[in-house]
Amino acid sequence: MIELRSVHKAFGAREILRGLSLEVPEGQNTVIIGYSGTGKSVTLKCIIGLLQPDAGEVEVDGDIVGAMEPDELVALRGKIGYVFQSAALFDSMTVNENIALGLRRRAIAESDLRDRIEESLAVVALGDAGEKYPSELSGGMRKRVGVARAIALKPKYILYDEPTTGLDPVTSAVMDELMVRTRDLGVTGVIVTHDMRSAFTAGDRVAMLYEGQIRQVGPAAELRETDDPVVRQFIEGRPDAPLSLRRAER
Ligand SMILES: Nc1ncnc2c1ncn2[C@@H]1O[C@H](COP(=O)(O)OP(=O)(O)OP(=O)(O)O)[C@@H](O)[C@H]1O
Ligand SMILES: [Mg+2]
Repeated sequence: MIELRSVHKAFGAREILRGLSLEVPEGQNTVIIGYSGTGKSVTLKCIIGLLQPDAGEVEVDGDIVGAMEPDELVALRGKIGYVFQSAALFDSMTVNENIALGLRRRAIAESDLRDRIEESLAVVALGDAGEKYPSELSGGMRKRVGVARAIALKPKYILYDEPTTGLDPVTSAVMDELMVRTRDLGVTGVIVTHDMRSAFTAGDRVAMLYEGQIRQVGPAAELRETDDPVVRQFIEGRPDAPLSLRRAER
């Protein structure tokens, strides 16, 4: 299980996370929604130890991320796949080579690479794209390669940062299905998004990050019916709330 306990993170004088606490139960997709700039990506980076909280703790399977030695961090990143907000593929490498790179970095045996790559591309329905270069793929395909690269590690967890941003509605729906499929394969997901359709399609639980804390968290169906005006307004995308409710924390 992943657990964030009262996590604080500031950049200079700007406090982004101000006591964020969240539990990510295993075997489910937990979605984090929230305005642009509220610290959703920062939260994911704290989970895999790319950023350290100023205070509070992130615990993954009983170990505190901030207290990990370099070799423990490598092990942590071997069990957490990360699908970046931008697909973050190397343009000079084929899809196969991009996925292989991640596997080699985790010291996966060379003899396993081909099977792992083929299997993961099949899951994202890109079985014939392995020899292509990222520039030959659409944005949606590149995002799916990002997912394939993450699942090739056979991770226990996958963190998805804005998996549907910039995708057309049909391609977004494919991505949602994919996130449901990885969950059904037993992978625990954390999905950061401001795409409400995606949140309620792929998410089992939804948490709203607001002013540096989790404003509300619960089963997707419960959040959808929330009485909290801040959460309601975000979910409904209404621009007509008082400015105090609209403030994105830039
Ligand atoms: N390494 C960093 N150094 C300085 N400031 C940072 C750093 N990382 C993030 N920030 C700032 O922290 C704030 C939160 O950033 P974050 O990327 O987590 O937002 P977000 O919720 O993911 O937004 P979006 O929905 O636009 O992706 C932003 O104002 C950003 O500029
Ligand atoms: Mg972000």
